This record gives sequence, C-alpha cells and structure tokens, in this order.
Amino acid sequence: MAAKARFLLLTGLLAAATWVCLSAVAASAFDVPAVAFGDRFSPLFGDGNLVRSGDDRSVRLLLDRRSGSGFISSDYYLHGFFSASIKLPKDYTAGVVVAFYLSNGDVYEKTHDELDFEFLGSRWGGQWRVQTNVYGNGSTSHGREERYLLPFDPTLEAHRYSVLWTPTHIIFYIDDTPIREVIRHPDMGGDFPAKPMAVYATIWDGSTWATDGGKYKVNYKYAPFASEFTDLAVVGSRADPVLRVPRRGGGADQEELLGLMTADYALMTPQKRAAMRAFRARHMTYTVCYDAVRYAAAFPECDNSDEEREAFWAWGESKTVVMKTRGRGRRRGRKAGAGARARSDVASS
Ligand SMILES: *[C@@H]1O[C@H](CO)[C@@H](O)[C@H](O)[C@H]1NC(C)=O
Repeated sequence: MAAKARFLLLTGLLAAATWVCLSAVAASAFDVPAVAFGDRFSPLFGDGNLVRSGDDRSVRLLLDRRSGSGFISSDYYLHGFFSASIKLPKDYTAGVVVAFYLSNGDVYEKTHDELDFEFLGSRWGGQWRVQTNVYGNGSTSHGREERYLLPFDPTLEAHRYSVLWTPTHIIFYIDDTPIREVIRHPDMGGDFPAKPMAVYATIWDGSTWATDGGKYKVNYKYAPFASEFTDLAVVGSRADPVLRVPRRGGGADQEELLGLMTADYALMTPQKRAAMRAFRARHMTYTVCYDAVRYAAAFPECDNSDEEREAFWAWGESKTVVMKTRGRGRRRGRKAGAGARARSDVASS
C-alpha cells in the first residue's frame, strides 16, 4: 500500500515536472558539465593500468596479462544522470569486456541494484556489441538484458554513453539517441533500482563468456587493450548508501530531483521515441521482452506489440539484425551482472 502510494506520488511529480518543462525554454540535450576525474572518482583496481591524463579530464583503462583496471565514484547517488565518452580498444578484442555502470553490490550483497552498459569485444576489429542490464534488489535471476550492434565503429573515436535514473524511469542513451527506456511499473516491485548506487568503469578479461559464449578468449598477443574515458559527467543527489537518505536534506534534495526530472535528457519527446524505435528496429539483437524460452512470465514494464514480436524469435533474438558472431550468452545462466564480475576480477588480479 505504502509502495503504491509512493508510486502514485512519483507519477504525480513526473507529471508536474513535465508541465514545468513545457513552460520553460528547453536547454540543449546533454548540457552537462564534465568533471575532473579526481573531483568525483577514485581508482578502484589495477594500479598501473589506470592512466590519468595530465589535465585529469580523461582516463585510460588498460587490460594486460597482469590485470584489468577500473575506477569508482567517490560518492553514492540516489537518482541522477551519468555519462562518459568512451573509446573502445582496437583490433582483436575477443573476450575483452569494458563496462560503465551503476551498482551498490558492495553494500547490498544479496539485494543489490545495477544499471549497466557492457561492451563485449570482438574478433573483428570494431564490431563490439553493447549490452544493457537492469537489476533491482538482487533480481539477477530474471536478467533484464538487451544487446545491440553499434551503427559506428566505437574504436575510431569516443562516443557518449549515458544512463538516466529517476524514481519513475530509466533511459539509456548512445550519443543523443535513447536506445532503451524502462518505465517503472507497480508490478516490478523491488525490481526497479531504488537504493543509492556508485558509478563504476572497468575493463577485464571475460574470456569465459563475452565472445560467442566463451569460444573466443582474450589473446594477450594484442595487449594492452586500451579504453579511454572522457567527458565524465555526474548529475545527481549524493546519498548515504546504508541509510539511503540524501546528503542534502531540507528540501535541497527535492529541488535536485525536480531539476533532474525536468532536464532534457529525462524527457522522452515523440521525436526521441521515434529515434529510439528506429535504433531498436535496426540494431537490437536480443531483448528479454520477447524471450519466452528463458522467461515464462512477461516483464511488466515491457511494451510488447504483436508487430514487434514478429521481428523476434521466441528466444528473444532479432530475426532481422544479423550478427557475424551469434551471441550465446543467454545460455550460460549468468547469475550476476558487471558488478559481481568486476569484483571477482579484483579478487583474481
Ligand atoms: C528486497 O529483497 C529482500 C530480500 O529478498 C526483501 O525482504 C525485500 O522486501 C525486497 N524489497 C523490495 C522493495 O521488494
């Protein structure tokens, strides 16, 4: 009952936020200030394999035979907009995984929340695949994965990958194009991320699963594998991860939330929705929404249509988007997301 009331309240807030925005002059999309690495982030693992630029505006994360590497935000956030421009490693990158994600797995081992961009390496130079995941309250047994091909070569120049997370919806962006929207549905219950999360970026050896279900492993002849992170942006309410309360109380946090929800990147305009549909129709290779083989029950937040279902096989793979290497990741029974794997990477490095 309380959860439902809160949901209705938040829906009301969103409606109010939409109204405020309609009556305001819209700022340009992604008008977010980039931060210096040291202002908001710290190294997480891999010591020498994390290389900061002289002006501290960009970071290279390397993977070699010795170790991967990663960084973490100095604060936890309850909702926000999190963004980075990322250039992925070149040439042969089978087995290599680069991740940019939010998680609280270090605080909530059994009931963690997570929002991921995972980049899976390839035998064919620039043909990386991208995966997005949404987990709430430890819901990793019903993974909310989607996979996409990219309409560009992500190793030639940096592209911006962003995650918006509000109490009512989540949007993943590639550059200015929304590629996935998860609107909170009351039936999702705890599956919608609702506890403060930290921001992570990592590179690691995912030989056991990343490329063609683990068939193609990392080949260290091509090491070091170098990913570059720039334009790091974090807009959100800092929060205590254990107490789950905002660091700035007294209404300041409500103002921050209203600011977040009225920002351009939080609004799904008809144009943006059309761009999202077009991207998904052309580039989405897998979605849980049509995976009737792995999941008996439909996901409440999925906006399924018969027309779209026609475009997918029963196991969630697209009939129209053809990949050179067909992902078999869905069969390996993954139990945890990037956070858990990055942590095991820490343990083994
Ligand atoms: C999260 O999971 C825990 C443990 O399973 C459960 O007790 C709790 O009620 C869940 N929270 C929500 C919001 O569903």
